[in-house]
Amino acid sequence: MKSDLDIFDLELKGVVDAKEADGILRKLIGKAIEKHYQYVHKPRLDFVPGKSPVPLAGRVYDAEEMKMLGETVLDFWLTGGRFEKQFEKEFTRFLGERFCVLTNSGSSANLLAVSALTSHLLKDRQLKPGDEVLTVAAGFPTTIAPIVQNGLVPVLVDIDTGTYNVNVDQLEGAVSTKTKAIILAHTLANPFNLQRVQALAEKHHLWLIEDSCDALGSLYQGRPVGTFGHMATFSFYPAHHITMGEGGAVVTNDPILKKAIASFRDWGRDCDCDTGKDNTCGKRFSWQLGDLPQGYDHKYIYSHLGYNLKLTDMQAAIGVAQMKKLGSFIQTRRSNWQHLLDKLKDLEEYFILPRAEEFSEPSWFGFLLTIRPASPFKRIDLVRFLEEHKIATRMLFAGNITKQPGFKNIPCRVPFDLSNTNFTMSNTFWVGVYPGISHVMLDYTAGQIRDFVNRLRKV
Ligand SMILES: Cc1ncc(COP(=O)(O)O)c(C=O)c1O
Repeated sequence: MKSDLDIFDLELKGVVDAKEADGILRKLIGKAIEKHYQYVHKPRLDFVPGKSPVPLAGRVYDAEEMKMLGETVLDFWLTGGRFEKQFEKEFTRFLGERFCVLTNSGSSANLLAVSALTSHLLKDRQLKPGDEVLTVAAGFPTTIAPIVQNGLVPVLVDIDTGTYNVNVDQLEGAVSTKTKAIILAHTLANPFNLQRVQALAEKHHLWLIEDSCDALGSLYQGRPVGTFGHMATFSFYPAHHITMGEGGAVVTNDPILKKAIASFRDWGRDCDCDTGKDNTCGKRFSWQLGDLPQGYDHKYIYSHLGYNLKLTDMQAAIGVAQMKKLGSFIQTRRSNWQHLLDKLKDLEEYFILPRAEEFSEPSWFGFLLTIRPASPFKRIDLVRFLEEHKIATRMLFAGNITKQPGFKNIPCRVPFDLSNTNFTMSNTFWVGVYPGISHVMLDYTAGQIRDFVNRLRKV
């Protein structure tokens, strides 16, 4: 311990200037973090089939993420700051969108995107209570909940088995005079039929939100998802393509929507100064809004019923480091998914295998398998078997959301039957393809599925 302190003392000998000391200490602490990563965090590549877990998803990081987090500790700037700005810049550059508003989760991003549609700033296109928003019943809970939380009515349609994306015929048939918006996820990174959905939105003047929380890096007609709708949302939870721990983003090209999103995120305030900044509009004490007195401090004028869903610089700094790895993450997800597909192709008699939406190149989030009705086994038996063999599995989102205890009594409209949704709820599961999974692990996963099927095939 004494010798550690000696290093610091030695390096700082004679240094009195805080800036110089800061530079020296950042370098030393960075080196110490690198060592810590090497000794404590670096993954050991000794996969033991049946003993080591095959996770579904997780953080993939190295010393760079930890060093970036270290930088924020030394900055001790505890809210959004320089790394938030840097991430927003790099993320918008990656997508080719104008604006990115960071928030503390993908769920918050969805809440902000739907709430933004209720803003008075949208004038005659503002959503009012009772207006309908189209989505799928086989959705993630916090894709659908913000519709209800905003006094709007979800209209729930079915999906197609195989792509697990919206059935566009049903979507088209579900439009009513009350329909004002569409929010859909690109299911496990498989882009939904953006060509038809976008055309439908344009035809009926509907807002389109792409829930891209699971789909960062997926392409549709060569263009990244999240750039087709009026807004798109992303999640940076550890299971996702890149992580910040907790984190999310809403992206848009529309400055009015951007203003509404940021206002809802930041307590509902009218002022859009960055955290720690004042008077960027130059009129801080010159506004008169609502019934407030002339010149009331703009920082304390609230034009929406907002929240506080902001992100910290600690999270953003990790995201900045993760962006450098995004390209390789996407490639690995694609190659892992293809590898698993190749290994399981000959079991098509038992499983509906996943397929990419036409014109798309997904940055796969997971590998979905649906057990065919004639198969001699049930999903529960296979899932139990895999979990017992340390292979993690998940269901597809909430199954049929209308069957969930918290959603059973929500006001909603279900115009058509949900037979594929119900079939998926009972017969579908998925396994991981994230970059922390090697081909050896995938071979083990495929081998276990094959063993399970073979055993029952003989019976
Ligand atoms: C489609 C979809 N939307 C939204 C979310 C919510 O993201 P978060 O977990 O960051 O709140 C998820 C979470 O995985 C998701 O899969």
